[in-house]
Amino acid sequence: MDLAGKAYKAFLERQEALEKQYSTKNAEKQHSKGKLTAHERITLLFDPGTFEEIDAFVTPASQPVEFGKVERTFGDGVIVGHGKINGRLVFAYAQDFTIMGGSLGLVHSKKITKIQEMALKMGAPIIGMMDSGGARIQEGVASLSGYASIFQNIIQSSGIIPQISVILGPAAGGAVYSPALTDFVFMVNSTSYMFVTGPNVVKEVLNEEVSSDGLGGAEVHARKSGVAHMIYDDEENTILALKKFLSYLPSNNVENPPIVETNSNENDIIEKLRDIVPDDPNKAYDVKDVINLVVDKNSFFETSELFAPNLITGFARLKGKTIGIVANQPKVLAGVLDINSSTKGARFIRFCDAFNIPILTFEDVPGFLPGVDQEHAGIIRHGAKLLFAYSEATVPKITIILRKAYGGAFIVMNSKFLGGDFSFAWPTAEIAVMGPDGAVAILYKREISESKNPAELKKELVKKYRDKIANPFIADESGYIDEVIDPALTRKKILSALEALNNKWVKVPARKHGNMPL
Ligand code: HXC
Repeated sequence: MDLAGKAYKAFLERQEALEKQYSTKNAEKQHSKGKLTAHERITLLFDPGTFEEIDAFVTPASQPVEFGKVERTFGDGVIVGHGKINGRLVFAYAQDFTIMGGSLGLVHSKKITKIQEMALKMGAPIIGMMDSGGARIQEGVASLSGYASIFQNIIQSSGIIPQISVILGPAAGGAVYSPALTDFVFMVNSTSYMFVTGPNVVKEVLNEEVSSDGLGGAEVHARKSGVAHMIYDDEENTILALKKFLSYLPSNNVENPPIVETNSNENDIIEKLRDIVPDDPNKAYDVKDVINLVVDKNSFFETSELFAPNLITGFARLKGKTIGIVANQPKVLAGVLDINSSTKGARFIRFCDAFNIPILTFEDVPGFLPGVDQEHAGIIRHGAKLLFAYSEATVPKITIILRKAYGGAFIVMNSKFLGGDFSFAWPTAEIAVMGPDGAVAILYKREISESKNPAELKKELVKKYRDKIANPFIADESGYIDEVIDPALTRKKILSALEALNNKWVKVPARKHGNMPL
């Protein structure tokens, strides 16, 4: 055999060895836990035949290991590369739990930082699929430096390319900060969990018994901590949802999101919208009904659905163009703004602003949630984040005031004076410093307490306040909003406002960065 023939044979042998490793290495172990292998995940994620793996043959760093052993496998427990999703370039890495528990050694980390840097250079989103026991114990500080480099790259790419984490197994210790730094986190029920210190440490330090799922499962992070933005019951649905989710986003901060042809011949006059807000101002309704009627059919993709559901956030399309939606939800806590909804809204708005996604706000908010708990936990500091995020955003910003717009909450929810571009109100809007009951109780305290029939007097004054003050017409006449509109014309008004804002251009004075209240 000539030299070229020998080299080719060696090449084929390496390929065979790699394929054998992938096909035999503990796939059943993953499946028995209800998990897919790293390869199956990559195959599901990318358009068929488009994934190109990089660094498949790299092996772990060969420094001496004093404690435990390092498996000398190809790839060092992570698959990295690029391919197409919905026809667009995306980079991804998938940790392989069957190799040293997907733990992150130096070489493993270098593979990830390599594609992070490529994704940034090429202006493409990056997806991290995590299934790992964290820093590789045997490699000591080298693996910690690997994590640090990954964090540093995420932070440097933040706001330039979308970065998404999918947790498909454990994410423990400092390793959780890698997903936490990215833009969106997807998790799977029952098989994924994230915590800074696991159940054993919790037991040791606090003597509290808790399961992995109870401490940091998908449901906990979606509902309570807000760390997870989207959760699903299995990996297939998680990955399919992620692909759909990506279709709303631009590849980077200098592109606009892709326009998706909608086959619906949407009628821009929607009469049903006239009947959504109930006659009784204290009665709830579902703001999602408004959203779904206004945006392109079936285009609303809700984010953080289970966390702070008193504020709805998500992406949708209007005539095929992506918009970010922020909406108070009167069905939950009357749509009040509290700490969690403020931080949820602020983070979502900042993402939209970074990635050229116009923000559409539906407002029906009685104000900020009062109480010792909220005050002591810092509603002032956290509420300020929402204020800051709205004001700072330079993308097109449109508000529709559906009903209540009281006090500070009127200002915060994208009022004209915070740089909102268009502010429309439905005739049912109540715009004032506070709600009728509170206003009457303060202004007529003495009269009511001295009255022979306080309930009757109060009722009368509340009616008077509603007629004279808590309506949209004063704001309309004084220019504090742009127009009171027929609810049926909402979609039409938004579309023409968006068209007018197509070339919106804002010059922001140079500075290193603002100092958002954190
Ligand atoms: C090296 C590891 C490992 C690790 C797991 N393995 N974690 N090897 N370094 N960090 C190996 C195991 O030895 C085992 O090898 C294989 O992976 C599978 O692990 P099991 O324990 O058998 O699996 P399971 O029972 O499913 O438990 C998974 C686990 C547990 C919950 C993740 O392995 C675990 O608690 N690991 C340690 C988690 C952790 O505390 N990591 C450090 C976090 S600190 P064999 O050969 O038996 O198959 C950190 C710092 C980051 O990450 C700093 C950033 C700032």
